[in-house]
Amino acid sequence: MATNRTFTMIKPDAVQDGHTGAILADIEKGGFRIVALKKVLLTPERAGKFYEVHKERPFYNDLVKYMSSGPIVAAILEQDNAVTAFRELIGATNPAQAAEGTIRKKYAKSIEANAVHGSDSDENAEIEGSFFFGADERF
Ligand code: PPS
Repeated sequence: MATNRTFTMIKPDAVQDGHTGAILADIEKGGFRIVALKKVLLTPERAGKFYEVHKERPFYNDLVKYMSSGPIVAAILEQDNAVTAFRELIGATNPAQAAEGTIRKKYAKSIEANAVHGSDSDENAEIEGSFFFGADERF
């Protein structure tokens, strides 16, 4: 069910630094089932579209440039109360404020290179998952 799913991306730095496997292991240990998974290089146009909601924010151009600077790993994840449970697992957007043991505390470098993205609502989880995955790519 849509309300039991969230969407994540492992961001370019974390992929480049070889943390994909460890982060996916943390996600599974956190009780999530991986419904869909792919590694992809976003063009600046695609990254710009994904983050369109932040278009007016001062960091938008930097964020788009960063998110298209190297491959990301996209995934749809399932667990009861997935959006909230995943945001707890990853910790605060700014790693300086992320709790001990969270994915961002372990792997994030900055508020931009913060290791992972996590959807902020059920509605956005569905929109973001559909941005990367068709119905025949979710199991
Ligand atoms: S949240 O989680 O949506 O409430 O976080 P928010 O603060 O709104 O940030 C949204 C995304 O923008 C990124 N971000 C930044 N990038 C570059 N520079 C600065 N200063 C900055 N501030 C926020 C942040 O990593 C969030 O990315 P995602 O992929 O949504 O986690």
